[in-house]
Amino acid sequence: MSTAPVNVTVTGAAGQIGYALLFRIASGQLLGADTPVKLRLLEIPQGVKAAEGTAMELDDCAFPLLRGIDIFDDPRQGFEGANIALLVGARPRGKGMERGDLLEANGGIFKPQGEAINAGAADDIRVLVVGNPANTNALIAQNHAPDVPAERFTAMTRLDHNRALTQLAKKLDVSINDIKKLTIWGNHSATQYPDLFHAEVNGANAAQAVNDQAWLENDFIPTVAKRGAAIIEARGASSAASAANAAIDHVHDWVNGTPEGDWTSAAIPSDGSYGVPEGLISSFPVVSRNGRWEIVQGLEIDEFSRSRIDASVQELVEERDTVRKLGLVK
Ligand code: NAD
Ligand code: LMR
Repeated sequence: MSTAPVNVTVTGAAGQIGYALLFRIASGQLLGADTPVKLRLLEIPQGVKAAEGTAMELDDCAFPLLRGIDIFDDPRQGFEGANIALLVGARPRGKGMERGDLLEANGGIFKPQGEAINAGAADDIRVLVVGNPANTNALIAQNHAPDVPAERFTAMTRLDHNRALTQLAKKLDVSINDIKKLTIWGNHSATQYPDLFHAEVNGANAAQAVNDQAWLENDFIPTVAKRGAAIIEARGASSAASAANAAIDHVHDWVNGTPEGDWTSAAIPSDGSYGVPEGLISSFPVVSRNGRWEIVQGLEIDEFSRSRIDASVQELVEERDTVRKLGLVK
């Protein structure tokens, strides 16, 4: 039986995350070993030549699941027929650029990309925004795709989730597989809140297993929340292979479902759960069932967690208000 290939659009394809991501998609790690893919690479005109070089290398891998590569510098063409869109390309913060300038510059990218998704993507389109500021860029794209169900626009906090898993595993000297139900709340920024209070380690409560509030507050939370900056400091460039890995994890779980008895973290449009204003694209504890993200309900949030979730959500509100003033979202 032959399966029709899935069209995967990747923006910023010639960038460093693109280079770490495309080979994994083409090898079957995004959608599974039975699903052929067609890649649609979207770049700005200056990036097209480098994307062509990457496409040559993809060809040279002779991946059996890779059924074609097309390269575009026009979003309308790039998103035509896309089933999955990984929005990686974004405007980095330049010298002297304020947060508002950054949001405005990215509006110039994510507004037309949202419009192009609305105009030509497949009916089952699923969008993951990786390019920063990811949550608000996703909100901008979503606002310009009124015909696409709002829940199809998500932003990536899976890298933060994976970072938190490793920090906890190291602290307790356990394997990643021993840890379940960890959560990243809020924005993919230094205000994010990695939450251990509902996490389990071999079935026991993780916060109790750690039993070290000073480590939690002064080590775990800041290490996870500021890991992106620490990598930039160490590598001289932002995380790339780990970001690509997290993007693979996010889409794989969205399409194929999360394992029973566990959950993960993803920034998805809020339905008002846990006091997060409806519509904000904020990170929650989520499971994926039947191809849809669902927010895990009924968790008790104590005062410590509440104040941290509120602080990160407040930052998202401020970002939304800034792009609203710029006319980029309703
Ligand atoms: P990079 O600068 O190496 O590559 C970005 C690429 O995007 C470039 O090739 C550029 O030409 C392209 N691009 C720019 N504007 C575009 C547009 N309008 N359409 C298509 N392509 C466009 O950057 P990178 O290291 O690959 O990182 C990409 C983004 O991902 C950055 O915003 C970074 O901050 C972000 N990031 C997010 C996470 C996360 O966890 N959410 C983690 C790491 C990095
Ligand atoms: C990361 O978390 O590694 C990145 O979002 C950092 C960045 O600013 O690109």
